[in-house]
Amino acid sequence: MDFNIMLQAHRGFAYLILLLAAVFIVALLVTMFGYSGKISKLLRKSTLFTMIFFHVQALIGLVMLFFFSPGFKNALDSGTLMSDSVTRNTYVEHPFAMIVSAVLLTILNKKFKTNDKLQMSWVIMGFIALALMAWAFQWSRLFGA
Ligand code: HEM
Repeated sequence: MDFNIMLQAHRGFAYLILLLAAVFIVALLVTMFGYSGKISKLLRKSTLFTMIFFHVQALIGLVMLFFFSPGFKNALDSGTLMSDSVTRNTYVEHPFAMIVSAVLLTILNKKFKTNDKLQMSWVIMGFIALALMAWAFQWSRLFGA
């Protein structure tokens, strides 16, 4: 498998995840402020699909990182991985935060699947997952010039 194909796939899925995450936030807010607090079908589905695509990204990302990425290899070889803020963000902070976010989404998906009523702690977990994603997202690489 070619590195560029994987990078393009990772970029493509990133747009999709932004859309799914937007639906997920809306569904979470609507349920949170809703009168009954009942977990809706939309919330269940949006959590499930956001989680699935996070897992796909994690798989592609980890394979790129450890087997293909020329940038990661160069940074390791030259010893600048942690001292350079750009390489640290791309190859350490981005993967690490996204994996934590994926784990939180996986827990949430299980909670929403097996319960009927929303709990505040799950809302907080959802916002932490989204905040990590927003922080670690490679905004300038995807949308920058
Ligand atoms: C969960 C584990 C993840 C890992 C291990 C991972 C890993 C990586 C790596 C290694 C790169 C840099 C590739 C390179 O230039 O050599 C990268 C770039 C990127 N990742 Fe991830 N990623 C993960 C999750 C995500 C998620 C969930 C998203 C989107 C929501 C995402 C969006 C991006 C974007 C937009 C880039 C920039 C692509 C470019 O420079 O053209 N990643 N990722």
